[in-house]
Amino acid sequence: MKAKKTSTGNEILPKSLWKFYFKYAAKPMRWLLVTWALLFIVWDIANSTWWPMSQQKIVALFENGIGGDGFFEHGLITIGIIISLFLVFDLMNTVHEQMAAHWKPRAKKNISETLTNYVHSQSITFYNNRIPGKINSQINYITSGFETVFDFTAIISTMGVILLNMGLVLSINKYVAFVLLGSFIFRIVYSVAMMKPVTKASQTASESSSHLSGHIVDSISGFSIVKLFNGAKHEDNYLEPLRIKNLKDQIKSSFLQRIMWIIPMFLWDILFGAVLVLMLVLYMRGNIKVSEIVFTLSVYQIVQGNIGYIARTIPRLVDTIGSALHSYSELNQPIDIVDAPNAQPLVLSHGKIEFKNVSFKYKRKYVLRDLNLTIKAGERVGLVGTSGAGKTTLVNLLMRFYDPTHGQILIDGQDIKNVTQNSLRNAISFIPQDPTMFNRTLRENIAYGKPDATNTEIHNAARKAAADDFINAAEKKYESMVGDRGIKLSGGQRQRVAIARAFLKNAPLLILDEATSALDSETEVAIQNSFEKLAKGHTTIAIAHRLSTLRNMDRIIVLDKGHVIESGTHQSLLRKKGHYANLWKMQSGGFLQE
Ligand SMILES: Nc1ncnc2c1ncn2[C@@H]1O[C@H](COP(=O)(O)OP(=O)(O)OP(=O)(O)O)[C@@H](O)[C@H]1O
Ligand SMILES: [Mg+2]
Repeated sequence: MKAKKTSTGNEILPKSLWKFYFKYAAKPMRWLLVTWALLFIVWDIANSTWWPMSQQKIVALFENGIGGDGFFEHGLITIGIIISLFLVFDLMNTVHEQMAAHWKPRAKKNISETLTNYVHSQSITFYNNRIPGKINSQINYITSGFETVFDFTAIISTMGVILLNMGLVLSINKYVAFVLLGSFIFRIVYSVAMMKPVTKASQTASESSSHLSGHIVDSISGFSIVKLFNGAKHEDNYLEPLRIKNLKDQIKSSFLQRIMWIIPMFLWDILFGAVLVLMLVLYMRGNIKVSEIVFTLSVYQIVQGNIGYIARTIPRLVDTIGSALHSYSELNQPIDIVDAPNAQPLVLSHGKIEFKNVSFKYKRKYVLRDLNLTIKAGERVGLVGTSGAGKTTLVNLLMRFYDPTHGQILIDGQDIKNVTQNSLRNAISFIPQDPTMFNRTLRENIAYGKPDATNTEIHNAARKAAADDFINAAEKKYESMVGDRGIKLSGGQRQRVAIARAFLKNAPLLILDEATSALDSETEVAIQNSFEKLAKGHTTIAIAHRLSTLRNMDRIIVLDKGHVIESGTHQSLLRKKGHYANLWKMQSGGFLQE
């Protein structure tokens, strides 16, 4: 189930959670849901009403005292009818349970699929400000919310049971019926009045729950730092206030839910005493039969059970739905990087890249200022600059992970804001500074660049990335799992998997952000040769702190405080004796000779 796409190719979700439930969870199986709900209502009402009626019939059988064979036969027929109906009800129960066993997992799948896809269509900024563990628990809240909506059918049928039984009592004695009705109305009014504070408390509790679980996941995934710094105690101290806040919020929410049914429960016990006294009086006056007393007590029990059910269920519904509403509003945020209306696929003819007066800030402070840079088609450019100078930011803008605050970025004359994001990113092979791995096999991680790649293509890419040796040495070779975020690989191996992934993708524009920083010189040289072959005819931007890797680039650009301060070949920049020459001197002075 995919979220609806706008004409611009961006995922959008309905504003309201109810519309979302209807469209994405209910619509694909609405007949199953309608049949299930109707069957449930009919079953619940019939089953709960037949119980007191059958008791009355049995007592009446003895009360009316038909003697001899007739009594036995009459009795058998009555019992036969009672049992047959119960068997029919049990059958209905089995069918609707089976139906629920079908629709609940399907609804879960539809909701989780739609929301995961939606979250994947969000921009990088969305993730910058969120913890992944929290997103996951919010999706779970929204799923539980949908199942809970269907508990409303139980409320409807329960109301049906209550009203029908009250009607039956009315035919026997109006006072008892009035007692039941009054108590019922009080319960409903009381529940509605309590709804608001309960919803608010449950929203707060669910927010603090998902906040806490997000931080727990974050803390666990940072286990290596925890080990290194003996940080278990620190983590415990860090999480403790969140746990305490969550504890308080949960207790408050549960307390308000209990309050919602405790008071009516006591009231009900007192009313039961009143009904018993009433029946004593009626019996003394000869106005009620024993079978009617049995019936009334049985109805009282059924109605009490059902009202109790409503009183306990409504706060639970309010709680779960409150959490779902809150989670949905948190996830359903406008996407800030969207395709322009009528965005066209990027047409890549030569691969010329232009940054025109580009300024950018993540928050308040500008990282890039009025940056102008033209990279010719097929040119191989090295980008250097101190840490934090804005190198990664520059390539992030080129991939449209963020939009420039001012200025334009053009590829072959097309503003990247006006082309589709998919076509833009398809045109770029990017090896990031901190390669991310999925906890999947080496094959899957490499093939991410081209999901339909053949084994030969995957092996070739690995060979070019100098990754085939360590992969073939692994126990399960290409089928070896890499562990959480690639933990089972060394830093350099992770980097080579990312390089193989980019080789396999073989896109026209190549961006390397410290792509070989973790490799030994021998492996690096081996890969450099592959890069040179790959870069042939491809516009390339290579970022590196190790300047020797950029020596053979067509041009080197020096970035400082968001500006291009120098630009030229390695030799010309050395001659210029500026910033680059200084950096080079520092690096080659100790251990690198030109
Ligand atoms: N997602 C972000 N949100 C806010 N600020 C950011 C974000 N990413 C980077 N920055 C800031 O932007 C500035 C430039 O960062 P950038 O990653 O572009 O530097 P860099 O030149 O690639 O550095 P390095 O050589 O260390 O990789 C830094 O001051 C950094 O703190
Ligand atoms: Mg960087």
